[in-house]
Amino acid sequence: MNFRTHNCAALRTEDIGKSATLSGWVSSRRDHGGVIFIDLRDREGLTQVVFRPEEYPAVAETAHLLRDEDVILVTGKVAKRLEGTENSKLATGAVEVVAEEMTVLNKADVLPFPLDEKIANEDLRLVHRYLDLRRPTMAANLRLRHRVIKTVRDVLDGEGFWEIETPILSKSTPEGARDFLVPSRLNPGTFYALPQAPQQYKQLLMAAGGEKYFQIARCFRDEDLRADRQPEFTQADIEMSFMTAEDIFALIEKMFVAVFCEAWGVEITTPFCRMTYREAMDRFGSDKPDTRYAQEIVDVGDVFAASEFKVFRGALDGGGVVRALNAKGLAKITTGQIEELTEMAKQFGAKGLAFIKCENGEWKSPIVKFFSEVEKAALQERLQIEEGDLILFGADKREVVCEVLGRVRLRVVEMLGIQHDPRRLDFLWVVDFPLLAWREEEQKWNAVHHPFTRPKAEDIALLEGEKFGEVRAEAYDIVLNGVEIGGGSVRIHEANLQAKMFSVLGVDEAKQAVMFGHLLKAFRFGTPPHGGIALGLDRLVMLLAHAESIRDVIAFPKNNRGVELMTASPSVVDFKQLRELYIASTKKS
Ligand code: AMO
Ligand code: AMP
Repeated sequence: MNFRTHNCAALRTEDIGKSATLSGWVSSRRDHGGVIFIDLRDREGLTQVVFRPEEYPAVAETAHLLRDEDVILVTGKVAKRLEGTENSKLATGAVEVVAEEMTVLNKADVLPFPLDEKIANEDLRLVHRYLDLRRPTMAANLRLRHRVIKTVRDVLDGEGFWEIETPILSKSTPEGARDFLVPSRLNPGTFYALPQAPQQYKQLLMAAGGEKYFQIARCFRDEDLRADRQPEFTQADIEMSFMTAEDIFALIEKMFVAVFCEAWGVEITTPFCRMTYREAMDRFGSDKPDTRYAQEIVDVGDVFAASEFKVFRGALDGGGVVRALNAKGLAKITTGQIEELTEMAKQFGAKGLAFIKCENGEWKSPIVKFFSEVEKAALQERLQIEEGDLILFGADKREVVCEVLGRVRLRVVEMLGIQHDPRRLDFLWVVDFPLLAWREEEQKWNAVHHPFTRPKAEDIALLEGEKFGEVRAEAYDIVLNGVEIGGGSVRIHEANLQAKMFSVLGVDEAKQAVMFGHLLKAFRFGTPPHGGIALGLDRLVMLLAHAESIRDVIAFPKNNRGVELMTASPSVVDFKQLRELYIASTKKS
């Protein structure tokens, strides 16, 4: 049997008069007084099939029994559609196939949801994911994902990178997130960890002389989930030897040129903008600033240096800052919305969120009574305040104000309902991240990127001088429209420096030998200078597809409780399976 001569997106007016065989799903059926029309769908598209009782009565009879999502095979002549019934939105919209023969290959039960509508209940979609993925928007996402990965592979291959697989059953090490663990039956009481990223293996491949490595790598992190996070996700993971950060920037920019050309048919402009971490935090209150919005955070500390407002003076006298954000045009904000913003600010550590509304030529605010005329004039000038504006203030330690106004900024932008050209692309390299950050809860220094990141050569003295908070790293993130789509660094390749870094992170020599002995040893046997980056492919495809959630570009994602609903995983296992693994479950079922 021949299932197909064409796919369902192929037929055109040039094919009129030819015979065609199509296979696919019944996407819809319309009965026009005996004449039945169906839209036949396959992965590629739709073709209208018409059943005419006057010409082919037996076939037309069987067409009455067709239901949505039945799988059929149809053979017939390609015909021109009647004048006025063409569908210009459809590639095949000028023609139809007049069915002469039809075979039902499989029947479909009544569906749990119609496939042609936007379905609000995502859990229902995930339970029946194989149906959800039949919808053309979802099929388009999978196709796009394939094209993007193919392009990434081609570019890297062209640049001399080798795709090398690294273990999935690997060793638990502190990379930042919580590990997923796998018990070893053959080695009772021991565990593998699923890789959070192939970080150490790719560095060891550089020690092994691999020079240019990449992998479309699955990564596993047991974290709380959000719209742009999954517990298993895919990276385009890259590492190279004898490199500088500039080599990585050039490589990734070249790759994005190819990816956007393939996905959207547009030519993006390179090189991308760069911004230091410090500037990103000061101007946008975020290390992944969405620079599409003009609203920026402005320092007004000097304006209020002698302020009578105790909140501002207190912050400044305590070595903190006073900064403001002009939410242009948002004076119309409701009291409820102001309360929401204030709550949010408090959640991120602020003590309050002072504001001024500029309405009817007046500054309405509980705090302007504390401002002098000089301060008001200076503020007006600094923030370009106009009728209709809303000014929001943060007064606290610099880090707190950055974080708070950064969050407030994003919410304000939502409230303003600013619509962008969906094709606008603001790429940004964020550079000069701090190497270390003090963790108050743990009372210790943590690596901002990971423990293998190289301190900037000019800041090594600061490291030696134990000014840990001031040391900058040779680390970089790539941000697109406010989403961190990748991050990497130049690495430490000297055993002594790596050991020093571990000890700053509170890993003593004995622990270093157990946890990182392999790496430290490799560094003593001639490991070349090296570095790399990893791109979050799911996030990239999500942006390319204009999808609202990372789940829409993953075939079988987990929901925000970490459950893959179709197969109901994770699931309870047999006691016997656990016993073989020397595991006792403490959870009562
Ligand atoms: P990092 O942890 O920054 O770096 O990860 C790189 C990129 O992966 C994406 N990403 C995620 N995507 C979906 N769900 C998640 N839970 C998730 N976590 C991260 C982000 C991020 O920018 N080994 C280093 C890279 C290196 O140094 O070369 C690493 O994994 O887009
Ligand atoms: P208070 O004097 O505490 O009543 O605060 C007056 C106004 O300043 C209120 O709108 C508070 O939300 C706001 N406010 C208080 N503390 C801060 C702060 N640290 N930063 C910004 N605004 C603040």
